[in-house]
Amino acid sequence: MARILDGHDPQHLAEAVDALVAGRLVAFPTETVYGLGANAADDAAVARIFAAKGRPADHPLIVHVAHMEASQPLAAAIPPAAQSLMTAFWPGPLTVIVPRRPGVAEAAAGGQDTIGLRCPAHPVARALLEACARRGVPGLAGPSANQFGRVSPTTAEHVAGEFDADVLVLDGGACQVGIESTIVDCSRGRPVLLRPGMIGRAEIEAVLNEPLLDRDAQAPRAPGTLEAHYAPRAQLRLMSADILQTALQVLGDSSPKLALYSRTVRAPRGMQYRRMPADAAEAAQQLFAVLREFDAAGAELIWVESPPSSPEWDGVRDRLARAAAS
Ligand code: TXA
Ligand code: MG
Repeated sequence: MARILDGHDPQHLAEAVDALVAGRLVAFPTETVYGLGANAADDAAVARIFAAKGRPADHPLIVHVAHMEASQPLAAAIPPAAQSLMTAFWPGPLTVIVPRRPGVAEAAAGGQDTIGLRCPAHPVARALLEACARRGVPGLAGPSANQFGRVSPTTAEHVAGEFDADVLVLDGGACQVGIESTIVDCSRGRPVLLRPGMIGRAEIEAVLNEPLLDRDAQAPRAPGTLEAHYAPRAQLRLMSADILQTALQVLGDSSPKLALYSRTVRAPRGMQYRRMPADAAEAAQQLFAVLREFDAAGAELIWVESPPSSPEWDGVRDRLARAAAS
């Protein structure tokens, strides 16, 4: 188990900064999910992230920065679209891909000639990033703090269960957004939506004044964009309310290994059940915690009612579809 520090305690924060400066890994809270942080300029520390997560080393990591100006030393250029998005949404749950400055954060970028930058809004993340910057750390490489392919963590306890004692975890409470940042690639001319999140397509297009393209075949490989990702241990199936209702009737007596997460369909007595909130933001906030809770309770099957098709559900639908694909 990784050791948990209190992110609001200045001494604990100082210990985390020392650890990062020394090349160790520190998981930290953001408003989306917890990240597994390392000094982005320290290739050996970044290599420890890939090892700890079991993640292939050619998958690029997001680099977290304290403020917009901190992007400059990492980027070869900040295209106008990226500049507009940073101004509109930072600090916040948006990652922008820009051309990388050659020779900088090579390992963190997984060898890509681009770099994903994000300025998180969580106060503990901001305090950590600012303190690190004062010690010469230009940014923190930070993928979600989970084992490769598993569900992202939204509490310090989730993170602690994923890693061993070499990793420190700064506790900043439960994440507010609950699903990973929206990612927009601004490195290749027309902006491309690589990963939907709680900052929606319409909000982004309103800022850019042009339509966002969808991910295409040339997009660099991004694990968050693989079909099967964000998977709980249990098998997850997405069903419409009608089909779910029928399936539950056919099943008859509830199986102890089946869990239900649904907005409108009620579980038979005795079945593991969580009600999906009617509000998309609330559903996102609890989604990964619910999947982990079902896993911990020994569920082998999770039946989920398909979320509505309206745009505010894009992020949740995307994560559930990927969880169901594995
Ligand atoms: O909300 C978040 O984005 C969280 C918190 C911790 O900031 N981080 C996160 O990181 O979800 P990760 O590594 O689990 O997902 C980042 C995604 C991956 O799919 C990665 O491949 C993609 O961003 N990515 C990072 N840098 C990229 C680049 N230069 N080009 C294309 N995709 C990139
Ligand atoms: Mg991830």
